[in-house]
Amino acid sequence: MSSNEKRGEAVDLSHHLSKVGQARQTSPLKGLHKYMGKPGLISLAGGLPNAAYFPFSSVSGNILAPDSFPLETDSRESSLSWFWRLFSRTDKERTSTFTVGKYSKHPGDLDLENGLQYGLATGQPKLNEIIREFVGKVFQPAYSNWTTLIHTGNTDAWSKTVQTILNPGDGLIVSEWTYPSAMAGAQPLGIIPVPIGMDSEGMSSISLRQTLSEWDESARGTPRPHVLYTVPIGQNPTGTTMGIRRKKEIYDICVEYGQPFFSPTFQDIIIVEDDPYYFLQQGKYIPKSDRVVDSATDDEAFIASLAPSYLKIDYQGRVIRLDTFSKTVCPGSRLGWFTCNPMFAERLERTAETSSQAPSGFTQIYVASLLLKWQYEGYLRWLKALRLQYKQRRDYFLDCFADEFHLQKKISSEGYTAGTHLYHASLKPRRSFVPLGEKDNAYSKPLFSFVPPSSGMFLWIELHLEEHPAFSSLGYKALEMKLWTEIAEAGVLFAPGAMFFAIPVEDDTLGYGHFRISFSNSTVSLLQKKLILV
Ligand SMILES: Cc1ncc(COP(=O)(O)O)c(C=O)c1O
Repeated sequence: MSSNEKRGEAVDLSHHLSKVGQARQTSPLKGLHKYMGKPGLISLAGGLPNAAYFPFSSVSGNILAPDSFPLETDSRESSLSWFWRLFSRTDKERTSTFTVGKYSKHPGDLDLENGLQYGLATGQPKLNEIIREFVGKVFQPAYSNWTTLIHTGNTDAWSKTVQTILNPGDGLIVSEWTYPSAMAGAQPLGIIPVPIGMDSEGMSSISLRQTLSEWDESARGTPRPHVLYTVPIGQNPTGTTMGIRRKKEIYDICVEYGQPFFSPTFQDIIIVEDDPYYFLQQGKYIPKSDRVVDSATDDEAFIASLAPSYLKIDYQGRVIRLDTFSKTVCPGSRLGWFTCNPMFAERLERTAETSSQAPSGFTQIYVASLLLKWQYEGYLRWLKALRLQYKQRRDYFLDCFADEFHLQKKISSEGYTAGTHLYHASLKPRRSFVPLGEKDNAYSKPLFSFVPPSSGMFLWIELHLEEHPAFSSLGYKALEMKLWTEIAEAGVLFAPGAMFFAIPVEDDTLGYGHFRISFSNSTVSLLQKKLILV
């Protein structure tokens, strides 16, 4: 939709509210807050401590320059100089400072008097303004009355969403491989994961349609699900990136199932888009020999180069998008935001009022100060470079695989790798001279396979355990765990694959083992150690 086209408002989706979501009342004292900003008001209502007794007279910090990391990288350099640069911290950091005092000099400025006071679950107005501008320019929601609301990170946001729109016994549509913490947040509340097959773009729309159309309530023991949880970019654990076409197909299915033809009870579907890796879209892995210099583009081209969010096609307001500063600023900030329709935002605000209230005032002040200093352009500049930094890390990791193993690239037609290049890794022959005729046998059978991740922080490898002597007696899950334990004992921790299954595997003699390996936070020596062990 072009920015000139008139956007409609969100449709009424209140039938998705859970019993708890419906029952929440405005917290009696929080309800008074709407009067607080009124000029001249004398408030004697709340238990607000007097700001004079806050022991902080100011807070300040040093902020990196938004252009601290380069916009051009050439990871073809044969020496590892770029790599050492990537990991070295010897360069002098360019910083600027900020200070926020207890009382503001100009109306609307950040201050501690308000920033460290009890606040609304909607967050500090300055931070909200910055976030709203960012969402409008970057994600470009397709309806007019979208709302943002801050939270304390996507983990918290998901937990609040579950309480607000899911009842015990409800099904939850997820990818067959999915983020285990999200499942851990929902399953104990009686939510039943409904796994959907995947391909190289993540959740398959074909598989989704099939599951919904064949839904048998009595066999499944639950009505057709009305909530879909997805990590569309840098899918955790597989590292896939979902393009706009696939998102549109899935979105349309979610709308379509609300038509009375399918169900008189409006079983349309809400999409919860958990998207922490949105700005870590790295694109295709290009082997070292074919790689060209990477350089970032201007702001509009940068935004256009990113696979759009579901918000861009959400003309009805059926997407609850979860954003976090964890991967773009720092996880310890415990700060992020929802973008959703005003009805959900209001219910989520009520949920926050009785749990987190607002995210920490310190966090809000620090992050707002950072973004005020950098401004929108500076933050985009930071994000452009950040994606290149992680791209280099991914490339280095995979280049090491290519050096250590014989990699054979094949188009895959199966499972979550379908439709993309799958790399099979086998041992390289130890001898440099291989006699004629032995050539074909020179490499071992594949030890593991992988699809280079196109976003995020993880490499997902499939272990070929079927050749292992203990495979038939142990099954692959136990064997995966045995191998994982040995590697962990040797001092390197991967994430064992079985924990990413949406539901426990029943037949342990089929399938493959997996490891999820993070390339985001390693030191050089740890990376080398990892690669030797694999
Ligand atoms: C898919 C997904 N969602 C949520 C989170 C947690 O985000 P936050 O730090 O904002 O709670 C992660 C972190 O690894 C993640 O991978």
